[in-house]
Amino acid sequence: LMMSEISEFRVLESQIKDKLQLDHVIVVPGNTDEQQSVKKALGKACAQFLSKIITSDQTIAVTGGTSMAEVAEEMNPLPEAMNCTFVPARGGLGEQVENQANTICAQMAKKANGNYRMLYVPDPLSEDTYHTIIEEPAIKEILELIHDANIILHGIGDALTMAKRRKTSQDILDHLTKSQAVSEAFGYYLDHEGNVVYKVRTAGMQLEDLEHADYVIAVAGGTSKVEAIKSYFEQGKSNVLITDEAVANELLKGT
Ligand code: F6P
Repeated sequence: LMMSEISEFRVLESQIKDKLQLDHVIVVPGNTDEQQSVKKALGKACAQFLSKIITSDQTIAVTGGTSMAEVAEEMNPLPEAMNCTFVPARGGLGEQVENQANTICAQMAKKANGNYRMLYVPDPLSEDTYHTIIEEPAIKEILELIHDANIILHGIGDALTMAKRRKTSQDILDHLTKSQAVSEAFGYYLDHEGNVVYKVRTAGMQLEDLEHADYVIAVAGGTSKVEAIKSYFEQGKSNVLITDEAVANELLKGT
């Protein structure tokens, strides 16, 4: 990178920070949709940011998805963080094993020399099963860790892309289309104003829990996610965004 490019990114970052009212923004070069290496760079930026903010005895909750899988891939030992515990943010959301929160959380912990706990709940849960399962002592203990997480790392996806990737039933797909769902995060589907239009019933992190965390870090790049990212941050409870240059430029259009 040229020096001028680096300073150009600092300007982009601070403009987005102001526009979306965030505490930190990190922009990496390129467009995730066009090059796999950009997703890697997002993962690396997130791992580095985490290593700067984390302290001992903290709990880190993580979601699934391919962006989070890259964060795990790029994770290194965290010497500043003795006795930290990684937990999945929510139960199964219909992702493939390598992109599931449980898998990613175990991999992150291994690379970071941290501890981890798993959350074994099937998805989607019936109303009755859900209420029974969250009262199970072993599950309850992990749910408490999740609700009290100090740091949360998460992906953001395009609503219909995610619903299809999860093999969501046709009636829910119809509902998402009718209610104009734009984005998805944590199993919540949001419209362009950031209102929740549908929520996958599974145990774990609820949107309200995000308020208790010190850092809620969204990792999402690629121009195909621009509308989703805007929608998520309309009522966004995340205070850090790690994205790519292509998204950053789109986010600033119209300002
Ligand atoms: O399914 C988990 C999840 O984090 C979703 O909440 C999010 O929409 C998606 O993955 C992002 O996936 P990717 O990083 O592969 O685009």
